[in-house]
This record gives sequence, C-alpha cells and structure tokens, in this order.
Amino acid sequence: MKLFLDTADAAEIRELAKTGLVDGITTNPSLAAKTGRDYADSLKEICGIISGSVSAEVISTEFDGMMKEGKAVSKIAKNITIKVPSTWDGMRACRALSDDGLMVNVTLCFSPIQAMMAAKAGATFISPFIGRVDDIGEDGMGLVRDIRAIYDNYGFKTEILAASIRSVSHVREAALAGADVSTIPTDIFKKLMSHPLTDKGLAAFIADAKKANVTIKT
Ligand code: E4P
Repeated sequence: MKLFLDTADAAEIRELAKTGLVDGITTNPSLAAKTGRDYADSLKEICGIISGSVSAEVISTEFDGMMKEGKAVSKIAKNITIKVPSTWDGMRACRALSDDGLMVNVTLCFSPIQAMMAAKAGATFISPFIGRVDDIGEDGMGLVRDIRAIYDNYGFKTEILAASIRSVSHVREAALAGADVSTIPTDIFKKLMSHPLTDKGLAAFIADAKKANVTIKT
C-alpha cells in the first residue's frame, strides 16, 4: 500500500520525507488555510520535495471554474493531481481533465456509487472519507470494502485512496480492505512504527550489550 501524507505543511513533509516512505501528498483547502501561505507556493515547494502524486484541490464548485483552476494547478509541477469533488460538475471535470492526460483525485466520496461514477469518469484516485463516515455512526471501512469489490468486479484501474484517517488502526484496516493508498495525518504517520514491545525489547538488548561490553567495530 502506498503511504501519502495528508498535509499542506512543507516543513512537516520535508521532515517525514527523510523516512523514504512517503509516496505522495494530499492537500485540501482546509489544510492549505492552516498553513497561512499562498496555496500555489506551498504546492510548488511540496512538489520539489516529493516526486509522487501531490493532490491540489479546486475551490470552484462549477465545471468551468474547476477546469480553469485544475489546469492552472497542473502547471505547477508534473506530479500534481487535480482534486475535484464527488458532484456532477466534478464528474464532468474529471472526465475532461483525465482525457487531457492529467491525474485526477475525486474527493469527498461517501458512497460506493459515487466511487463507481468516478472510476467511469477516468479518475486516477477515489478518496473515500473513512473518519467522517464513522463520525455519523456508519461504517467507513465498509465503504472501502464495497468500493474494492465494485472495482474488482469490473476491472476499474482507479486507485482507492483511503482518506480521513484518524488512527493507526484505520491504516491497518485500510490495508486489509485492499485500499491502494492511505493518506495519513502527520501525527498518525509518526505512530506507524510504535509498539511497546519493540521499545521494551530494544532497551533489553542495549542493556545486555552494555553489561557484557558487546560492541561493533566501525
Ligand atoms: C484527503 O484527501 C482529505 O481531504 C482528508 O483526508 C480529509 O480528512 P478529515 O476528514 O480529517 O478532514
């Protein structure tokens, strides 16, 4: 499974890119607003750090505006993916932008049928919002499983990008459900390697090595 960071903060991205395990980035207008920076400037900096897909979301809600904004952000770098909402105008824009050879991420997906429509419209990625579905008492991971089944039934190549991730368990469950990508907030990404038994075991190994003066010559 590919791991994306769900942030528009270039400094955080630069830091976590050092792990060598960041495959891409997703941003949205709310994340861009948090940075207090010009959105295009942030995207340009991020695309200089990460060579994988970097999603930039349109602000317009109607087709013509989405097309203009989508084309404008696509000029920032080759790895920009244009993010459009799961609406009829979004579907039209998805079809037109993907026919132009651009990558499109269809966001704000809350139903398997929206995901099927996005795949038919040529989406590169579909973003089911797991956490927000859970928030209303429904089954976010069930949505991912349903989309996986539909895409496999028909051979759709659109990648399932599990979004609105709220925990390490969400990442595990998304991987088990067959999501192609998880986009993860930075605080959760940092927890992906944490396990109390790893800490405990490591402390014991180091203590034993010190006691017996076990060293490795370098
Ligand atoms: C990513 O593409 C989405 O915009 C993001 O994961 C939404 O997450 P949230 O529900 O925590 O805002």
